[in-house]
Amino acid sequence: MTTTPLPEMPLLPITSVETVEACRDLNVLKGDVFVCSYPKSGTTWTQNLVCRLLVENVGMELPEDWHLSHSAPFYEVDQYWKKKDRVPPETPIAGIDKESGHQMSFRVFNTHLRPHQLPPNARCVYVIRDELDVLASFFYHLSNMAVADGGYEGTESQFCLDFLDGTVLYGRWQDHMEAWLGKTNKNPNIIILHYEDMKSDLEREATKLAQFLGVETTRVSEVVKSAIDQCTFAAMKKERVRYTPKSVYWKKDADGKPYDNFVRAGRVGDGKEFANKYFSDDLQQRRKRDRETSARRWRNAGVDPAIIDRYLL
Ligand code: A3P
Repeated sequence: MTTTPLPEMPLLPITSVETVEACRDLNVLKGDVFVCSYPKSGTTWTQNLVCRLLVENVGMELPEDWHLSHSAPFYEVDQYWKKKDRVPPETPIAGIDKESGHQMSFRVFNTHLRPHQLPPNARCVYVIRDELDVLASFFYHLSNMAVADGGYEGTESQFCLDFLDGTVLYGRWQDHMEAWLGKTNKNPNIIILHYEDMKSDLEREATKLAQFLGVETTRVSEVVKSAIDQCTFAAMKKERVRYTPKSVYWKKDADGKPYDNFVRAGRVGDGKEFANKYFSDDLQQRRKRDRETSARRWRNAGVDPAIIDRYLL
């Protein structure tokens, strides 16, 4: 059975079509890691985990003023690709980090692009989170982001509709999953993590990730134990300045302070409450139909049936 192609997805105003084209042509270095996701799926958490594992693995000290964006910048941002010959971001390449002046020896990117927009040999960690939890989290994120950078001004109910329609940044959640999960099935260059599994047992998930990243078998346990201390919700909330993305501007409150709640609630199941409150009956029905259609499409795309069961049925 043939399936119609997925629609194109809306991009951030800080990402041009030319940048997306260039993103695919990056000369991938051995050791590069791409943390990939639909927004709000636990990207920052996973970036932190990847960086901490790599840092612990080589015994590197992170400087006092370290920011996650120093080690794992947002990939598809025009400012990194401005040079005439469109070379990729130089910031995290082995050696001296240009922005902070610190010694770094690995390259990690985070991206919300789809797999066909990335270099074919990219080593990727794709992190997934429940659709409604993503929806709620995305509403709070976009409502607090500067409008010029793609921030949202509508109501919660309007956002629910826009999210299902796929007119929000990065399009429909179900389409993003389809593009990635059809591609990832049995691809040794891609590991899938689930936000909910990380919440229930971070050490177990970090162990899988460490093995994928090539941490030496005898050191995995020690490296994981040190790395996850800095990756709990409490640790990241406390140090939230290090984790709040620098690639966009945030709205300011009445006192002129920019949004400070990026590491927000970190819960599983939040989205159900949000949907119960803001989805009309029509929209509930519409979502049910969308999920049935997506389940068929995901099957055709070769997505692992266990993942279809878990997220759509
Ligand atoms: P909530 O808004 O539901 O709290 P992303 O990095 O993809 O934008 O995802 C952000 C979401 O991950 C936010 O969800 C944020 O609070 C949550 N998050 C960040 N760090 C986390 C951690 N250490 N543990 C659990 N959730 C975390």
